[in-house]
Amino acid sequence: MLATAAPPDPTVDATYRAANEAAVANLRARLARAAEGGGAAAQAKQRARGKLPVRERIECVLDPASPFLELSPLAADGMYDDASPGAGIVTGIGRIGGREVVVVANDPTVKGGTYFPMTVKKHLRAQEIAFANRLPCLYLVDSGGAFLPLQSEVFADKEHFGRIFRNQALLSAHGLRQVAAVLGSCTAGGAYVPAMCDEAIIVRGAGTIFLAGPPLVKAATGEEVSAEELGGADVHARLSGLVDYAVDDEPAALALARDLMSAPRPAPPPTPWQREPIAAPAEDPEEMLALVPPDPRRPYDARQVLRRVLDGSRLREFKAEYGQTLVCGFGHLYGVPVGVLANNGILFPESARKGAHFVMLCAQQRLPLLFFQNITGFIVGRRYEQEGVARDGAKMVAAVAVAQVPKITVMIGASYGAGNYAMCGRAYDPRFVFSWPTHRIAVMGGEQAAGVLTDVRRQSLAARGDPPDEAALSALRREVGARYEEEASPYHATARLWDDGVIDPRQTRQVVGLALATTLNAPIPATDYGVLRI
Ligand code: COA
Repeated sequence: MLATAAPPDPTVDATYRAANEAAVANLRARLARAAEGGGAAAQAKQRARGKLPVRERIECVLDPASPFLELSPLAADGMYDDASPGAGIVTGIGRIGGREVVVVANDPTVKGGTYFPMTVKKHLRAQEIAFANRLPCLYLVDSGGAFLPLQSEVFADKEHFGRIFRNQALLSAHGLRQVAAVLGSCTAGGAYVPAMCDEAIIVRGAGTIFLAGPPLVKAATGEEVSAEELGGADVHARLSGLVDYAVDDEPAALALARDLMSAPRPAPPPTPWQREPIAAPAEDPEEMLALVPPDPRRPYDARQVLRRVLDGSRLREFKAEYGQTLVCGFGHLYGVPVGVLANNGILFPESARKGAHFVMLCAQQRLPLLFFQNITGFIVGRRYEQEGVARDGAKMVAAVAVAQVPKITVMIGASYGAGNYAMCGRAYDPRFVFSWPTHRIAVMGGEQAAGVLTDVRRQSLAARGDPPDEAALSALRREVGARYEEEASPYHATARLWDDGVIDPRQTRQVVGLALATTLNAPIPATDYGVLRI
């Protein structure tokens, strides 16, 4: 059955297309800036040292012409005075020998590849993806360790630097290979990355590994020693045994890394359903930009988006006439059967009940779930509180939280309040989250927050018997509105790794398809539900 949708309006389309094209151009400009890493001079220094730029290194280890699903390329965007483009690390999922692997590669052109707080978060996120999807990891190491001015934000807490090594031990214990190629500096904490791997490679004359570099050794003990003597390839391949292979140059290291990552591994688990032959969407994904309003407060028909993502534009809609602000249905993506949930307005009690029912149905059939968020929240007001909107919302939240099937979330427009939870926001462990440039995310909209905070201030002034200062209240309203606008931006969100990347809407099918293929490396278990309030 084709996903039926209201016919597009050509006048609206042209306005939307122009605005969305500008938004995509802005995205591309930001991605290009981030891909420059530490800038032209730092890149030239890298090449002069006989080293490849980080993305070329990754290209060398992956299967020729295979896709690389780069994650969070705009991490740390606008943070740390823009000193850490991409957070100084490239992570993603690529294919070696036709099988998916996680790649984590330092960018030495960005402050010597040192770890800012977002670098740690991005590295840990890549390992989380490896755990959830049962993937081996390849680390291309070239890092000065912690970014020392921010040491208190990267060192001591549970989700800080130490967690990287703990994860390596556990991933290896789960049978997921951990391989490091030391292509440059590997200092202090960074030294543990190869040390914790199953197998490690080092490049003669370029790679060094030590707990403390020459300056620190001199300060601590007075000993004067060169980096090469302290922790070069010869030291670790011949004397310490810390690495297993020493090679003469970077291409040799990358070729060997490829070999090590191609070691036999168990076949992906059987899926609990049959795949269908793959069919391209009947509607052109190029039209995506004309469909969705750049202002998330304006409505659009979510089915129009689904028609440009799913195989053959087919969606068997579930409960099509009930709870119509949530579109639920069964379809296929690259032949894989999926359950799809897409917002088509605010969530009402009946839409939440429908969502909960649908998610449980998919969990029972072990179907992966795709969520397309454009949700300003649940309906509010006396009538709906009495009807039990919170109870019905909680049912949907519980159904989503407990479902053991792979979940992937696409943030198309708004993601406000508890709507974020019910539609599988980051806290609900979707295997991947991708956002469109039209995405906005916050606890509530800026206007509402400004209204709430001004009312609260007005009431507290009244409680103290003070007269309202209208000028100050207006200033507060403007300040809160502006801050919410800034913080709700998809770039604010992706910089902090609330998602796995902002994507061109026209590439939604390909990106989600790669992510979905990745999830199928792990078995899909049965789901046992607890108590759902009724
Ligand atoms: N913390 C903060 N900044 C660091 C840093 C660190 N650990 N290591 C390097 N940087 C900065 C440098 O100050 C320089 O900044 P600038 O571009 O603003 O001048 C930039 O990173 C590049 O460093 P540079 O030494 O010029 O580059 P390089 O490629 O020749 O060498 C390293 C890179 C990492 C090998 C070298 O800088 C080094 O040994 N750093 C010290 C590492 C260390 O002791 N870490 C301890 C962590 S616990």
